[in-house]
Amino acid sequence: MNFSQTSALVSRGFVLSPMATIRSDRPEVTRELARELARDLRSPIVIALYGDLGAGKTLFTQALAQALGVAQPVTSPTFTLINEYDLPGGGKLFHVDCYRLRDAEAEAIALGLEELFDAGVVVIEWADRIASLLPENRIDIHIEHAGEEERQIVILDRRPDRATA
Ligand SMILES: Nc1ncnc2c1ncn2[C@@H]1O[C@H](COP(=O)(O)OP(=O)(O)OP(=O)(O)O)[C@@H](O)[C@H]1O
Ligand SMILES: [Mg+2]
Repeated sequence: MNFSQTSALVSRGFVLSPMATIRSDRPEVTRELARELARDLRSPIVIALYGDLGAGKTLFTQALAQALGVAQPVTSPTFTLINEYDLPGGGKLFHVDCYRLRDAEAEAIALGLEELFDAGVVVIEWADRIASLLPENRIDIHIEHAGEEERQIVILDRRPDRATA
């Protein structure tokens, strides 16, 4: 890693760099991580979330949305595929869940998902199902179970201006 290009955000114990592994031992730590990420987001951006059922993808998204100023409650878009929220200042947050897509990439294309990628902050649960569609300008977040309330969270910041050497 090229540390001169590393945007190290140090706050309340988190150091977010282009590649970071964080141990979360309770939901509040995962929420805090989302809030920390929100401080450093510039639209448009895709946040691709990976992880099994119950890993914490929706919980992460809810905390991120709240930190970005979404006023209404954020619920999982399982049946609608895409939920859209207004951000203060005129931007949009799109919350996408690919879990129920059958032929995920074809359906995502048909739904016009790719057109959202430069239209706001786009958070995608089950992003692995549409891997080939994901833009370069994204942050990958892998959340893995490591116990009842323990999660291992790996962040790969792929934004071109953060790229590791
Ligand atoms: N450290 C932790 N981080 C995140 N969530 C945790 C943690 N410990 C326990 N949890 C719990 O795990 C659950 C995560 O649920 P959530 O709906 O966010 O998962 P998900 O990844 O979106 O699942 P799905 O694939 O079904 O959409 C919540 O009930 C949350 O309270
Ligand atoms: Mg979910």
